[in-house]
Amino acid sequence: MNNQGQQEKIAVVTGSSSGIGFETSLLLSRNGVYTYATMRNLNKSQQINDVAEKENLPLKVLQLDVTDDKSVKDAIRQVKDESSRIDVLINNAGYDVMGAVEDISIEEFKSQFETNLFGVIRVTKEVLPIMRNQRAGNIINISSVG
Ligand SMILES: NC(=O)c1ccc[n+]([C@@H]2O[C@H](COP(=O)([O-])OP(=O)(O)OC[C@H]3O[C@@H](n4cnc5c(N)ncnc54)[C@H](OP(=O)(O)O)[C@@H]3O)[C@@H](O)[C@H]2O)c1
Repeated sequence: MNNQGQQEKIAVVTGSSSGIGFETSLLLSRNGVYTYATMRNLNKSQQINDVAEKENLPLKVLQLDVTDDKSVKDAIRQVKDESSRIDVLINNAGYDVMGAVEDISIEEFKSQFETNLFGVIRVTKEVLPIMRNQRAGNIINISSVG
């Protein structure tokens, strides 16, 4: 419950250490959504934690590497245990591979798919049963025209 006695909305954002994920996590929490700002490397959490603390935002950083089954399961289980629901999932974690096709190895392409495609599926598979159970929820996938 928030301090108006209403059911607090809960969001999970992947890739919150920088860029769109960082800003989206802050935007959601500034608008009163309790936001789990997840990132694979907690050593990058200081900046968002500093802002959240300074502005007294409803934001918590959790470790979540979208390429790691256990990390995804542990993070989503923690959200469920603490908050009992997930209203919004923002699949943001991802990266660009720049260059000509002949200069990029198959391994580099496969790694990108492991994050940008299978990472989205991995996190969504953990979150969907929670949303189905509550019969509501929004999933936003940050993609690319490329
Ligand atoms: N900005 C653009 O113009 C643009 C254009 C097209 C698509 N996009 C897409 O928008 C999304 C955000 O991009 P951005 O511009 O904000 O780039 P960014 O600042 O590089 O942010 C990418 C985020 O994804 C995280 N990430 C990468 N691999 C991960 C993994 N295995 N598990 C968890 N997190 C991981 C990064 O974490 P680390 O800090 O640990 O690396 C970082 O937090 C990406 O999916 C990107 O493909 C952006």
